[in-house]
Amino acid sequence: MSNKPRVYVTRMIPRAGIDLLKEECEVTVNPDDRVLTRKELLENIRDADGVLCLLTDKIDAEVFNTAISSKGFANYAVGYDNIDVEEATRRGIPVSNTPGVLTDATAELAWALLFSIARRVVESDAFLRSGKWQGWGPLQFIGGDIEGKTLGVVGTGRIGTAMALKSRGFNMKVVYSDVADNPVLEEKCGAKRVSFEELLSIADYISIHVPLMDSTHHLFNRETFRKMKRSAYLVNTSRGPVIAEKELLEALQEGLIAGAAIDVYENEPLLTPGLEKLGNIVVTPHIASATHESRTNMALKAARNLLAMLRGEHAPDCVNPEVYEN
Ligand code: DGY
Repeated sequence: MSNKPRVYVTRMIPRAGIDLLKEECEVTVNPDDRVLTRKELLENIRDADGVLCLLTDKIDAEVFNTAISSKGFANYAVGYDNIDVEEATRRGIPVSNTPGVLTDATAELAWALLFSIARRVVESDAFLRSGKWQGWGPLQFIGGDIEGKTLGVVGTGRIGTAMALKSRGFNMKVVYSDVADNPVLEEKCGAKRVSFEELLSIADYISIHVPLMDSTHHLFNRETFRKMKRSAYLVNTSRGPVIAEKELLEALQEGLIAGAAIDVYENEPLLTPGLEKLGNIVVTPHIASATHESRTNMALKAARNLLAMLRGEHAPDCVNPEVYEN
């Protein structure tokens, strides 16, 4: 039997990451292209020296109790709200994520969604395919302008900053809300930091880029929708529970806001029933990082982090570096 470390990968990821792991480890990959059941997850990680997991795997105390030999968990995502990091830290287990390699892909999808909802791309595509089009019409599919409008960015970490910077081609005014100033945005696109309340009231387009935390859970709700312009559009590529989805459904039904375009959901893979019937929403299935380049680089990054953990080295993208103290 080989004395290489045993790694478990909870679902197939781009080959490059698996090949890299195989250079130093015995690698087992979930053979089915689906999320493991809880029972399967626990069974499969039991003997693993390291785990490469996904945002769809809940990694908590029960998992840590089961994977007793695991030297770390490398998440194949930049968001890591699926992992109880506090518990991992308490036990001295390193956890890593994949920052930097999906920034532009995610910012680009936010723009794709913004365009799609503003210019009713999906709705008019479906109309044309349905055979209902009788020819050009002066009142058909009228949407919102983008040029010169106000973009409100909520959360200006890497992705929020990249999203905001891409607005320069459309001469947009940029306002942002964050816990700190963002000098890059202020210098490069004249962005102004405003309170969350002010952003809600002046933005024509709001793009959400905050991580999911207690303080951002249901940040967007009935009350916030009421404070937005009735002509405003909301874009979400961060995490679903940042929006109270049922209240979004009601806001869209009642016309409190003009539209929404979202890639993430409160209870993935389920959609709040009724959303799918609305014309003023665009929905994509959590694909913001789904480009060949980003997904390959995420796989390599997750693999490099896990290899470092297995060698007893500092994982480059460790989100709980306290575990390396003392
Ligand atoms: C992430 O990385 O957190 C995205 O949601 C999926 O790539």
